[in-house]
Amino acid sequence: MPVDFPLFLAPMAGVTNTVFRRLCKAKGADVLTTEFVSAEGILHRNARTQYYLEFHEDERPVGVQLFGSEPERLACAAKAVIDWVRPDFLDLNFGCPVNKVVSKNGGSALLKDCPLLTRVAEAVVKAADPVPVTAKIRIGWDQHSVNAVQTARLLEQSGVRRLAVHGRTKEQGYSGEADWAVIAEVAAAVKIPVIGNGDITSAADVLKRRRETGVAGVMIGRAAMSHPWIFSEIRAALENGDIPPPPSFEEKWRFICAHCAAEIAWRGDEIMGMRSMRSRLMSYTKGMPGGSRLRERLSHVGGLAELEDIAALHLQALAGGTIPA
Ligand SMILES: Cc1cc2nc3c(=O)[nH]c(=O)nc-3n(C[C@H](O)[C@H](O)[C@H](O)COP(=O)(O)O)c2cc1C
Repeated sequence: MPVDFPLFLAPMAGVTNTVFRRLCKAKGADVLTTEFVSAEGILHRNARTQYYLEFHEDERPVGVQLFGSEPERLACAAKAVIDWVRPDFLDLNFGCPVNKVVSKNGGSALLKDCPLLTRVAEAVVKAADPVPVTAKIRIGWDQHSVNAVQTARLLEQSGVRRLAVHGRTKEQGYSGEADWAVIAEVAAAVKIPVIGNGDITSAADVLKRRRETGVAGVMIGRAAMSHPWIFSEIRAALENGDIPPPPSFEEKWRFICAHCAAEIAWRGDEIMGMRSMRSRLMSYTKGMPGGSRLRERLSHVGGLAELEDIAALHLQALAGGTIPA
């Protein structure tokens, strides 16, 4: 059933693989995207790329996010990835601030070169047709060159069908605050749906941004890493204005253990799977009572049974008042 104010899980490298995306979908995320995938990786069909591109049918609508800088290579990669995995849409990354990407003219570097950005968008839209192409931008390169409205217009004219705007400049990285006033200007300047992104941490944030900015939906990144329940909380708030109570610690631990079990099953290796979950466990336990001691133990957890023991002890300590809830 189409929703009138869709909730997007933000693409996050090293985080939003198929396992986590499906968990977020179960919690109410409407639209999912792979983490960014290099056009060259697709053209060389390397093993890592295959891992990035994997998705399950129940994730649809799901998009593949591409990055690169050469229009012809990106167009070939777009065609190749459509044949390969049949995504519902392709998303162009014009926001990545990471040096490795920017130094090769990819990601947010294209915000400084509007003619090239336009050629990239036009080439990919043409190559992908009839599969829709969307894009994700930052508001500009730095505070002196905020050009999101101009970029959005160019992308709209190039045939891009939806635009996610992260309200920070490239120079900001993840510091400072997302500028939702610029996101609102973009939403007013173009006809394609604009999805607002940056610093959403609660359902109340979404109600406020929706009321004040004219965005067609919101995209949530870091808050989903520590609190994937945010999607169901937002959906409830949008539907009836009530925000459900936060999950209990039991529920949180059940979810965390299920996430680890699913990751291990997907990787087919308990040690590798658990190791890859360690940084995720740090996010999940952020703000939990007794957090620093808990995180110390989790930083070398080796398997699912050990994790379940840590969870049981933590719940016991909370129930017994040994650590205050
Ligand atoms: C660990 C991490 C990895 C990210 N990887 C990507 C990526 O692959 N593609 C992309 O467009 N944005 C990426 N982002 C940016 C997010 O999609 C999002 O724009 C940003 O985190 C702001 O949203 P938030 O405040 O809700 O986290 C990444 C962010 C983080 C924290």
